[in-house]
Amino acid sequence: MTTYQKPVFPSAAVWKDSALVENFLGRVRKGVPLAEAQFDVMMRVIEGRGQPVNAFMDLGCGDGVLASVILAEYPDATGVLVDFSMPMIQAAIANLKSYGKRIHFSTVDYADPNWFGTVAAHGPYDAIVSGFSIHHHSDRVKQQVYRDVFDLLGPGGVFVNMEHVRSTSKWLEAVHDDFFIDSLWASQVGQPTSESRAQVATGYHSRDDKAANILAPVESQCQWLRQIGFQDVDCYFKAFELALFGGRKPPQKNIYDFEAA
Ligand SMILES: C[S@@+](CC[C@H](N)C(=O)[O-])C[C@H]1O[C@@H](n2cnc3c(N)ncnc32)[C@H](O)[C@@H]1O
Repeated sequence: MTTYQKPVFPSAAVWKDSALVENFLGRVRKGVPLAEAQFDVMMRVIEGRGQPVNAFMDLGCGDGVLASVILAEYPDATGVLVDFSMPMIQAAIANLKSYGKRIHFSTVDYADPNWFGTVAAHGPYDAIVSGFSIHHHSDRVKQQVYRDVFDLLGPGGVFVNMEHVRSTSKWLEAVHDDFFIDSLWASQVGQPTSESRAQVATGYHSRDDKAANILAPVESQCQWLRQIGFQDVDCYFKAFELALFGGRKPPQKNIYDFEAA
């Protein structure tokens, strides 16, 4: 059995650690501010295609929280859930077991260029979503992943990235941190193990995954998507460092579009 070795320099690999995953799923994820609004906006963008989702992918799926919303909304959808953290995949298997054959797990590292071939077989995809995952990678890798996402989507397919993005100043970063800590604190008040706000703040600032963040401004990321060829690119929702952005692969033109042009 391979044992997880804590990396010397924090990286996305911190997510292979069971204790970190337990803390995230048991405490942090439940306290993400305005999470319901983010899911609502994500689904509105996907529904904007005007057609049911058949194939979708969840990149860095964690316990499958994004995938579960799509699976519940589209009874014929099948999803590929990508994550390289075994504790996360185990949580997703447990949460989504009622979906049976509608889900496939892929334990590839999407920062490795070879990942593309393993997931392309299940595509093209109508929707590709990602939640709080890609920000752990360098800007070069982020752009490579966005190019791969574009190539994996079918015509008219949408990409929605629910992400942690960079503040434009240290002052705004501090405002964001307070916003997040208040939400975390509120989410665990009344629970048997509830902590003081100061304890919540200490835990928030010292998390290993926070040290592994490589945040990029949402404007730059939208610009990368446009350069790749996505259309309808925008930041669809934003509250400080929490952003939901993405775009749509151009739909296939039919003969009538050419005649009208
Ligand atoms: C913060 S968690 C978010 C999980 C879930 N998407 C959510 O919104 O709650 C980030 C997830 O991305 C996964 N991840 C990060 N980089 C990855 C990579 N290069 N390949 C596969 N999974 C990755 C981690 O293992 C982790 O499960």
